[in-house]
Amino acid sequence: LQLGVLASGSGSNFESLLEAIAAGKLQAHIKVLIYNNPGAKAAARAQRWGIPAVLINHRDYKKRRQEFDAAIVEILKEQGVEWVIMAGWMRIVTAVILSAFPNRVINIHPSLLPSFRGIRGVEDALEAGVKITGCTVHLADLEVDTGPILVQAAVPVLPDDTPETLHARIQVQEHRILPQAIALAARQYPQ
Ligand code: GRF
Repeated sequence: LQLGVLASGSGSNFESLLEAIAAGKLQAHIKVLIYNNPGAKAAARAQRWGIPAVLINHRDYKKRRQEFDAAIVEILKEQGVEWVIMAGWMRIVTAVILSAFPNRVINIHPSLLPSFRGIRGVEDALEAGVKITGCTVHLADLEVDTGPILVQAAVPVLPDDTPETLHARIQVQEHRILPQAIALAARQYPQ
């Protein structure tokens, strides 16, 4: 599987894929990391692993979401990417990416979807008082945090949890299920 990863921030999920591949748990290659925030820690991780990293800054595409996505598609296609992994990609994906990679765009979200969609998935779960939350890997579609679910993992909410402690516990599970979900998607949606 030829993967392209989109990340906006820390990139710990991106690195978990590199580790799963290195450990022989996922038969794949990461062809390129695309990031949208200069200084994203994900870029430093790419450098350490020798993965090409390309900055495409959405601030250069104000109100031109489609053109931003077209620039991303161009790089992904150039690199021979088959599967697009949004690993902490804090931008709304448009039909430009989805139609270039039909059924080939995967997202990871820090809640048990369909509960707590959106960027405050961890905080909203905490505020709702649920005792169990978790993470979801799913195929992306045009809405935010919807689309066929591939893998989920449950995570208990502890009495003293803050958004940070809860998110850290969720991320441990994210790092486990993201590689699994990619392998599963490749089997469920073969080329
Ligand atoms: C993850 O919790 C993911 O679910 C959410 O953004 C976070 C990214 O974390 N979409 P990282 O950059 O992979 O560390």
